Amino acid sequence: MSRYWSKVVEQLSPYVPGEQPKLDNLVKLNTNENPYGPSPKVIAAIQAELGDNLRLYPDPSSTQLRQTVADYYGIQAEQVFVGNGSDEVLAHLFNALLKHDKPILFPDITYSFYPVYAALYGIDYQCIPLTEDFNLQVKDYIQPNGGIIFPNPNAPTGQLVPLADIEWLLQNNTESVVVIDEAYIDFGGESAVTLIDRYPNLIVIQTFSKSRSLAGLRVGLAFGNVDLIEALIRVKDSFNSYPVDQLAAAGAVAAFKDKEYFESTCNKVIEYRQKLSDDLTQLGFVMQPSFTNFVFARHPKRDAGELAEALREHGVIVRHFRQVRIEQYLRITVGTPEQNNVLLEVLKVILA
Ligand SMILES: Cc1ncc(COP(=O)(O)O)c(C=O)c1O
Repeated sequence: MSRYWSKVVEQLSPYVPGEQPKLDNLVKLNTNENPYGPSPKVIAAIQAELGDNLRLYPDPSSTQLRQTVADYYGIQAEQVFVGNGSDEVLAHLFNALLKHDKPILFPDITYSFYPVYAALYGIDYQCIPLTEDFNLQVKDYIQPNGGIIFPNPNAPTGQLVPLADIEWLLQNNTESVVVIDEAYIDFGGESAVTLIDRYPNLIVIQTFSKSRSLAGLRVGLAFGNVDLIEALIRVKDSFNSYPVDQLAAAGAVAAFKDKEYFESTCNKVIEYRQKLSDDLTQLGFVMQPSFTNFVFARHPKRDAGELAEALREHGVIVRHFRQVRIEQYLRITVGTPEQNNVLLEVLKVILA
């Protein structure tokens, strides 16, 4: 605290990201990064970009990247927005499209950055409880609102809302923007990007940090009607004209072009997620169905906070949230088979 702080800063409760420890040899299963590195073509594209050109500013409109992503989905480049990670895209979105008179709606258990952005921009919000088994029911969102936002699949619960339910929500909520945050969609869901031409109030968010193995590069996307994308561009150009640097843009283009690598790593994660879920069930854990690159589990006989602590002492880090309704759950990122085996062996020792 300092007398030089503004009122805004005094009142902030910032988001707390998962730990990024500097220790070697840790099995890091706490922040849902991809256990596989990016495509070799991504590395080559970034290396090719290293040179004298770095003295120049990057393209402020990220034209090539937006066109590449648009071609992939069969849409127009004007329907795509790019930013410095999807967190930044989300921040602009709260400011540009969710700040109205009525409160916005999001689930009681969800990505914990949403209330932080709402507080930063002075946006009222109302949390809509998930069902007892953590399902999101779209009918619960039919009430006056300044906007609706949720991840699909949801985080940290891992559950998926069918595309038909999202379409029903869009048909029954036409007065405000509906935001579907698809950070984990490539691990088992069907993207709502296919709906943007039909629903002028839909925004879909995606990231390069999970299925495209590029959390370190910081690139995120929004898809939507041209007028909604223009709102995001207006905020971006009032904040930072160059959110995506030259190296990031080159790597991101190459990542979208290497579909084969992307599909093979996603398939591996999906396969090992099933094996990890089965093995944890064998150890007595109760598992939530997962459509993501993490599992959400509780052990009926052991306190989740203590388990997380014990795992850490054995060099394995997972995420535990001290939050009502989920304090007895662990969120565990799906690792390589070797990492998953270390987790399971350590758990056997702890649970013995
Ligand atoms: C639901 C959800 N949305 C958005 C993000 C942010 O991703 P990034 O800023 O790395 O693109 C995350 C990160 O974990 C997430 O879980």
